[in-house]
Amino acid sequence: MSDDTSEAEFDVEARWTVDAVSALGTDHAVPAACRGSGGPAALDWLGRQLGLDAGTRLLDVGGGLGGPAAYARSTFGASATVVEPMPRACEAAMTLFGLPAVQATVEALPFADAGCERLWCIGVLCTVDDLGPAVRSLSRITRRDGLIGLLVYVRTVAEVEDEPATNHFPSAEELDRHLADSGLAVRTSTTLDAMGSPPDDWDQRADAVDRWIQQAHESDDRWQEAHAAEERIGQLLEEGTVEGHLLVAQRVR
Ligand SMILES: C[S@@+](CC[C@H](N)C(=O)[O-])C[C@H]1O[C@@H](n2cnc3c(N)ncnc32)[C@H](O)[C@@H]1O
Repeated sequence: MSDDTSEAEFDVEARWTVDAVSALGTDHAVPAACRGSGGPAALDWLGRQLGLDAGTRLLDVGGGLGGPAAYARSTFGASATVVEPMPRACEAAMTLFGLPAVQATVEALPFADAGCERLWCIGVLCTVDDLGPAVRSLSRITRRDGLIGLLVYVRTVAEVEDEPATNHFPSAEELDRHLADSGLAVRTSTTLDAMGSPPDDWDQRADAVDRWIQQAHESDDRWQEAHAAEERIGQLLEEGTVEGHLLVAQRVR
């Protein structure tokens, strides 16, 4: 992953998103802050499969600006914590939603072995350079009766042309192998396509925030870099070169 592009896409944009939400209204916050989640249907599916309810403690690893964690709190009553390497994304999760946020990477999670009851990791395992350490780390912190929810964008071809600098898409087979090698078994899975489109008002709010950021920052190289990466991911999804896989895994050893 290129550090400059990931800073543009995941860090600087976080600050801009906070500014846009403050200009457009707090009802824009959750759709704008769900940067990799595919919308409410995917979050509902993950939340149900993980059995989230009032009081469940959920770690959102690579949680970005906290949109999915805020959704888990408002929809299921879960008590969610964001874990995220980008400082301005952590700040956004705290400012937009008052969520606790811990600055850390998935490979070096600052949590005890086998202590986490539920975690999800949404659109993150396709941004890391090396899947093995990331998946082992998720497995390490998960309780024996715990569950892990994943949304991973996987490639359907041997090699993705013009892969965005912020992404490294595994194949479904690679993902399965790393899960198995880390002592994780997949309990259930589906695809993002099966979830259907987000409601119109969700898309309208996310689009309004994007437009606000574009008008304010279009001439900034960092906006152009982030925008190019996002456009390319959109193309890859559209042509089916990459598809979103939703999975719930549990430890078997
Ligand atoms: C596509 S965004 C998804 C954010 C959030 N999960 C969501 O659905 O809105 C990918 C996130 O992964 C984070 N990320 C990148 N590399 C990471 C790593 N090594 N460990 C943890 N998070 C990472 C990025 O900073 C970014 O917030």
